[in-house]
Amino acid sequence: QPLVGLVGWRGMVGSVLMDRMQAEGDFGLIEPVFFSTSNAGGKAPAMAKNETALKDANDIDALKKCDIVITCQGGDYTSEVFPKLRAAGWTGHWIDAASTLRMQDDAVIVLDPVNLPVIQNALTNGGKNWIGGNCTVSCMLMGVGALYKAGLVEWMTSMTYQAASGGGAQHMRELLTQFGTLNTEVRALLDDPKSAILEIDRKVLHKQQNLSAAETANFGAPLGGSLIPWIDKDLGDGMSKEEWKAGAETNKILGQGAGFGTAAVPVDGFCVRIGAMRCHSQALTFKLKKDVPVADIEAMIAADNPWASVVPNTREATLKDLTPVAVTGTMNIPVGRIRKLAMGPEYVGAFTIGDQLLWGAAEPLRRMLRILLE
Ligand code: HSE
Repeated sequence: QPLVGLVGWRGMVGSVLMDRMQAEGDFGLIEPVFFSTSNAGGKAPAMAKNETALKDANDIDALKKCDIVITCQGGDYTSEVFPKLRAAGWTGHWIDAASTLRMQDDAVIVLDPVNLPVIQNALTNGGKNWIGGNCTVSCMLMGVGALYKAGLVEWMTSMTYQAASGGGAQHMRELLTQFGTLNTEVRALLDDPKSAILEIDRKVLHKQQNLSAAETANFGAPLGGSLIPWIDKDLGDGMSKEEWKAGAETNKILGQGAGFGTAAVPVDGFCVRIGAMRCHSQALTFKLKKDVPVADIEAMIAADNPWASVVPNTREATLKDLTPVAVTGTMNIPVGRIRKLAMGPEYVGAFTIGDQLLWGAAEPLRRMLRILLE
């Protein structure tokens, strides 16, 4: 069985990946080698077979023995170790959740239900570097990839509502701590049905504006009861890095744009952090190349892959099936609110949601592993 090195398996994305690999029986097909950056020599988890001690994740010789390495350790690890490993002559497959290598020419952004032909083409040409996409982009394409595959999209805007988990585990804790602090602040007033709502509101705002530095250390601004319309770095041209990724990665995943000698489809919008836990939501506006009936659009989305589904555009169905709470922890990618917009028959709106730790991070990686094992 192929030797598969696992790095960063204990963090949040890594833990979700381990769960999914166990659920799908992936460990039955591989000889896992568990690596650690901090606990080499410690005991590997129960999925280990012959190699029951943790290896040092910085040990190039140990990594070199692996046929495949899967890492969720993060970008700093990738920057540090990947070049050394390749320089040491390693020709194995590198599967990575971090964004570091994503836009390199010899890397494929893996999302096989959307871009299996791009993956297969790279494999035929000796590709070895398989990188998971930005969570928001991956979830969006799982939902509405059908419209891109059909060549129908002239341009798209994506206005996002991104969950705390996109920042990391500490961000989720910070959000919940803020909710708790705010609730505590007005608890007595809430318990009294006759208390004045504007008094509650005033006290909440005062608390939000005076949260301690420790309570906003991760997000840099209050998020509980608020939102933050900036995600990732400031590129200095008015765009956030998360917004840049939407266009750059969507086109790269689809195998189109500058790197492929074809025209890119413009994809742009605003990325906003909201107080959801781990589902990223997006309001999409499409300008289609022609007038396509809503029923046809719905049929294409529903037929595209086993995980995308159409939520009827009614209030009742939306409240039931099109919320982060309804989607979290599932592989479902619902697409709802599909309707023609007032601007004209080629303008279509839609709203989609995905668990950013599943399709947004872990799942494309383990599916790439399975493709390599075929
Ligand atoms: N950049 C994403 C976010 C994380 O902050 O939500 C997943 O790529």
